[in-house]
Amino acid sequence: MHPTDRFLAACRREPVDRPPIWIMRQAGRYMSSYRALRERANFMEICRVPANSLEATMMAVDQLGVDAAILFSDILVPLEPMGMTVEFDEGGPKVSKVRDAATIAALRTDVADDLGFVYEAVSLIKSTLRSRSPDATLPLLGFSGSPFTLATYAVEGGTTKNKHALRKLIWDAPELLHQLLAKMTEVVAPYCIRQIEAGADAIQLFDTWGGLLTESEWRTFSQPYTSEVLRRIRAAKPATPLIHYALEASHLVPAMAELPCDVLSVDWREPLSSVRARTGHRFAHQGNVEPGVMTCSSAAIARAVTACMDDFGRLPGHIVNLGHGITPDASVEAARTFVAVAREHGHALWSGAQP
Ligand code: CP3
Repeated sequence: MHPTDRFLAACRREPVDRPPIWIMRQAGRYMSSYRALRERANFMEICRVPANSLEATMMAVDQLGVDAAILFSDILVPLEPMGMTVEFDEGGPKVSKVRDAATIAALRTDVADDLGFVYEAVSLIKSTLRSRSPDATLPLLGFSGSPFTLATYAVEGGTTKNKHALRKLIWDAPELLHQLLAKMTEVVAPYCIRQIEAGADAIQLFDTWGGLLTESEWRTFSQPYTSEVLRRIRAAKPATPLIHYALEASHLVPAMAELPCDVLSVDWREPLSSVRARTGHRFAHQGNVEPGVMTCSSAAIARAVTACMDDFGRLPGHIVNLGHGITPDASVEAARTFVAVAREHGHALWSGAQP
């Protein structure tokens, strides 16, 4: 099957010859080639220079044998043109803190044109994928953070443990948080549409921090804004599959089933068969192997991948992936094993042979 058809069919829950496979954060520090690129350019320079973004994207494609490419960038990239400073150091991302009415009011939302380097990277990657294999071009995923996850980074100023700055807004000044979320929505929707226009075949929205909310809070602070983004993308680009990613969000599964998306990508805490049943068999699912296994033996990886695929079973609508990004202490060998086992097991499942 053509790789792009296979991926799009899986998103639409149509039959495939085997489920498509890719790995979240498939280009990253666990690769020596990525660490070499980082010797030449800092992280934001990789994101900002299309040739660097292309190089990182293609590393994963060339070294792992995955069935999809993902734009190399970061969810925090759109925050800079909005008026925030974004830096990456050893401790993770640092974002200038956005917590008061004046700072929120000053944020720009007409930033789609400032992010031209992202669309350039998308079209460069797409044409490279095409020329590399004209008859079997891999699909290319674009992505964005969800309004809530981007707002969390803006309010907290980075990755924090207890998220008390965000909590303070939720409890003491929800109207301010709503203003910020509305601004993020204005940024994210056109940003995703422009990625599709540049050649992205599907869009993944990362609602990474949505899971820290109760269901009622999520329905208040994340769902309306993410739904609006998804609706706007769908209205502009009805044929493009939309993937929603959530971390630690089993308690939100019934609410997530109301999102206008095609694929729910979840972590490993709940089997995909259970998520599928709880969402009425209406979505495709992506995931959900526990990422720590990528630091373990090939035998352990094989057990984890086959268990995940057997749990999903021979039903359309599975995109094999991890439940969260691969970590720097994983190995390229492990990632290759993950892909090879999933490929072989997928063929066995779908050819009718006993896996
Ligand atoms: O999947 C891919 O290969 C595409 C590239 C990609 C990156 N970040 C590269 C990256 C994608 C899709 C992201 C999304 C992202 N970024 C998310 C959502 C997914 C998730 O992990 O929950 C989030 C929350 C971020 C924010 C972010 N970026 C953090 C917290 C960090 C620091 C942690 C870390 O791993 O260093 C980053 C940096 C980052 N983004 C790196 C990479 C490869 C490492 C940067 C480096 O080279 O030092």
